[in-house]
Amino acid sequence: MEVIIRPDAERAATLAARLIAARLRAKPDLVLGLATGRTMERVYARLVEMHRANGLDFARCRTFNLDEYIGLSGDDEHSFRHTMNRLLFDHVNIERANTHVPDGAAADLKVEAARYEALIGVAGGIDLQLLGLGEAGHIGFNEPLSALMSRTRDKALTPTTRRQNAAMFGGDPERVPRRALTMGVGTILDARELLLLVTGPAKAAILAKSVEGPITAMVSASALQLHPNCKVIVDQDAARDLQGREYYDWIFQNEPEWAEYRD
Ligand code: GLP
Repeated sequence: MEVIIRPDAERAATLAARLIAARLRAKPDLVLGLATGRTMERVYARLVEMHRANGLDFARCRTFNLDEYIGLSGDDEHSFRHTMNRLLFDHVNIERANTHVPDGAAADLKVEAARYEALIGVAGGIDLQLLGLGEAGHIGFNEPLSALMSRTRDKALTPTTRRQNAAMFGGDPERVPRRALTMGVGTILDARELLLLVTGPAKAAILAKSVEGPITAMVSASALQLHPNCKVIVDQDAARDLQGREYYDWIFQNEPEWAEYRD
């Protein structure tokens, strides 16, 4: 795992977007795993800018989103499918058929979960998975006690998560769906590269547990410590409780791989 600390949320998101763009240029048919949440809005805005200004090409890119609320169809403005269309897919040259989000309105959720796993397999697996961090320590919607080997399935959301996401539902946690269909922790760990983006002071404590704490199903993001190719990009506010800050800063300032990203 590598932790990179940037001065603010804007620069953290820009670095994440630049890494995604670099992978896409190196492999135009990249299989890209995507995430939702407010943290990602800046990343998608940067990718749209790079598409418009520099012709960043999504023509052959395939995408798989982590999760979707159960009971919401893609037409619902609160669905992650709708959000992804609005923030990214409507503004870049990606084939809509190459963008995948679990179907939260599927009649049979087990069948839908198996279909989603199979689709990822047919695509050859995920090359790069973008991740955010929930205040409950989740990645995707893998709430506490999610098995570290879990696969795509439906999961009940914690009160913390429903409160955290209430802003998108008019501020009322009761309007946030109770369940979601999510890639499992095991599904996420199968991706060849992981990119976790975390910003803001509200995430500082859970970020420190995820990155420097023990690996535990109570904090599903702690499982990322097992992955051989995981980058964690954070801003100063989120990094506040990290003990290894000095070392992480040294890595970014000195390791050649980061030279082109310093500013
Ligand atoms: C949702 C998503 C997560 C995301 C989290 C963080 O719960 N299922 O994948 O990481 O939100 O949200 P935010 O970026 O808004 O803090």
